[in-house]
Parts: sequence; structure tokens; C-alpha cells
Amino acid sequence: MFLSRRPDRIDWLKKVPLFSGLSGRDLDLVARGTDVVRADGGKVLTRQGTLGEEFLLLVDGSARVERDAKPIARLDAGDFFGEMSLIDGKPRSASVIAETPVTLLVVDSRSFRCLLDAVPGLRRKISVTLCDRLRQADAALAERN
Ligand code: CMP
Repeated sequence: MFLSRRPDRIDWLKKVPLFSGLSGRDLDLVARGTDVVRADGGKVLTRQGTLGEEFLLLVDGSARVERDAKPIARLDAGDFFGEMSLIDGKPRSASVIAETPVTLLVVDSRSFRCLLDAVPGLRRKISVTLCDRLRQADAALAERN
């Protein structure tokens, strides 16, 4: 099965901007902490308002992010989601819904915390993406007003 072997997972992780520049050891650490999950189009992958237990990486397919049932963003292969709830311990800020059949790499909250501590630069890269998303959300809000 695609990505079921750890070396295949490492090869895929290497190409994802979030993990670019990681050492072989750190890539191996990340690959060990992930499970491969598949879901059909239409499946709710995270539900707004619930407590988050996983960090998810979209390997294949696309998903939309909805807040209060309104679309606010789209995610494609290589994008990640579910980090906010794991970082601040608050409920999921949005729902993420598969738009096509998707393949995901899923990291449970404990492994996510371990990876943040163990993998140099990971916190910073996640923070940069959070800043990008905030800037886009601000720009969209300003356009509407
Ligand atoms: P979390 O709040 O844990 O669960 C829902 C996820 O949707 C959230 O983490 C982010 O990963 C993602 N998300 C929320 N808002 C946006 C946005 N504006 N753009 C992209 N992704 C988002």
C-alpha cells in the first residue's frame, strides 16, 4: 500500500515544505510517529468545536476548511491541519472536510508534542504557516469590509 512502508513515507516527507531540510534521523522520527489513513470525499476530518487529538498531513486529495459552515480555505497535498487545537488546547477552530478521496498521515497529540521538542525548526515552520494563514484571513476580511 502507498506509504505503508516507512522508507516510502520518508521519501514523501522529504518533499513536503514543512519537513524540508530535516536530517535523516529526524525524518525517521516523524515517519515513526505517523499512521496512514484514507477517507472518502465528504468525510469530516476535523469537526469545529470538538477537542483536537491529532495533527494531520494531507498526502493526496483536497479538503476545504469551514467555519460556521462557511468555506474559509482550501487544503491540498502537502498541507497540514489540526495543529491549532494541539498547540493551545482549545476546541477545533474549524471543520476540515475531504473534497475528494484523501490519504492522510496522522500524528497523535503525544507524538506531535514529542516531535515539536525533538525536531529542530519544526515549531518555527508551523508558526510561519500560522502567520501566512492569519495574513490571508485578514486580507479576506479587509476585502469584504
Ligand atoms: P484546529 O483548530 O486544530 O482544527 C481545525 C484546523 O483547520 C485548524 O487547526 C487549522 O489547521 C485549520 N485552519 C483553521 N483556519 C484556517 C485557515 N484560515 N486556513 C487554513 N487552515 C485553517
